[in-house]
Amino acid sequence: MPTPVVAVVGAGFIGPVHVEALRRLGLVVKGVLGISLEEAKSAASKLGLAMAYPDLKAVLADPEVTSVHVASPNRLHKEHVLAVLAAGKHVVCEKPLGMTSAESAELVAAEARHPNLVCAVNYNVRFYPLSLQARALVRRGDVGEIFHLHGSYTQDWLLYPTDFNWRVLAAEGGQLRAIGDVGTHWLDLIVFISGLEVEAVMADLKTVHPVRLQPPSGSVETFKEKLGASAGRREPVAITTEDYGSVLLRFKGGAKGTLTVSQVTAGRKNCLRYEIAGSKCALAWNSEAPNELWIGQRAAPNNLLVRDPSLLDPSAAPFANFPGGHNEGFPDSFKQGFRAIYDDVRAGRRSAEPLYATFADGHRELLLCEAIAASHRSGKWVGVGS
Ligand SMILES: NC(=O)c1ccc[n+]([C@@H]2O[C@H](COP(=O)([O-])OP(=O)(O)OC[C@H]3O[C@@H](n4cnc5c(N)ncnc54)[C@H](O)[C@@H]3O)[C@@H](O)[C@H]2O)c1
Repeated sequence: MPTPVVAVVGAGFIGPVHVEALRRLGLVVKGVLGISLEEAKSAASKLGLAMAYPDLKAVLADPEVTSVHVASPNRLHKEHVLAVLAAGKHVVCEKPLGMTSAESAELVAAEARHPNLVCAVNYNVRFYPLSLQARALVRRGDVGEIFHLHGSYTQDWLLYPTDFNWRVLAAEGGQLRAIGDVGTHWLDLIVFISGLEVEAVMADLKTVHPVRLQPPSGSVETFKEKLGASAGRREPVAITTEDYGSVLLRFKGGAKGTLTVSQVTAGRKNCLRYEIAGSKCALAWNSEAPNELWIGQRAAPNNLLVRDPSLLDPSAAPFANFPGGHNEGFPDSFKQGFRAIYDDVRAGRRSAEPLYATFADGHRELLLCEAIAASHRSGKWVGVGS
């Protein structure tokens, strides 16, 4: 198999993270596409890429490019992914897979029409080595029966009403924002680790800032504006997407859970936490200290497993590339996810049970979001659709 050649669509916060992670795996990244040729040229020059593409057609017409990573804003994902598949190229789509479950279902159908292409959604949190270790502990039976799971995803970058990004607009990011943008990382991770399926949800959401002040540029790059006060006249804009959400979860088989999500918690930068209570032990992890997995025990001292490939389950160890004490973090999770995806690309087939999120997994997240939104509106438990 020739070395895959990749193009990245999106030159904002996360597109360049894809470029760096791909290169660390020895893959060739040929070029980047932005909203304008100017943006693409600036990103290509910063990242040392050969090509700044003028439009998506030029990316798809490049015969050297064998896969495309879609890291554009959410509202463009469906259109971009369909075009990439029609051009016969492998695709890695940033989360969420689409704006609605109707869109993600369309992409699941498109994936089925292209069985020779690898299709993945970038739920990268699965690829922290200790996420894989937690999954292995559950699968080995070391955790026992899972009674309940709880956790949160909290951030502060949208704390002030002057914080403005395309995500706050439902038309750009989807009807749910805190839940849709980061809560789905937690939900995907918990399902991945536990193997449990969410069957019903009961949600309570809150838009802390029903009016936000939009800067003249329209949007501020993700995480960029720490003081929320760039120069220029700001326009008040009505916001319908939630800043905060709490969700009760019922899993098939009887386990229960709760999730709290906030993008307005001062001091929490990007903090995903979970705790899983099993009949044999409990597991807890925090993405801001990602190299430690807490293993709680009733009749023996608790353990703190420090990420070290030599101490990990054989299924997790290949995804930890540095010795213990040499910390790995957010950018590494992209590299390790792409490792799993490109193992399939190089093998020319889709694994039967891939570690990376498939389009079906991406579709499930949209179904969960819609059930959560419906529950908030009705004030009742809502079953998750299929
Ligand atoms: N997996 C993760 O941890 C993670 C983290 C951040 C963002 N994301 C996802 O990545 C996507 C991008 O988010 P971001 O934070 O990088 O946003 P961003 O606004 O920082 O970047 C978006 C980029 O897309 C470009 N763009 C806009 N319209 C375009 C078009 N028509 N064609 C090509 N490029 C276009 C923008 O100019 C910008 O370069 C979102 O879907 C988001 O959910 C995932």
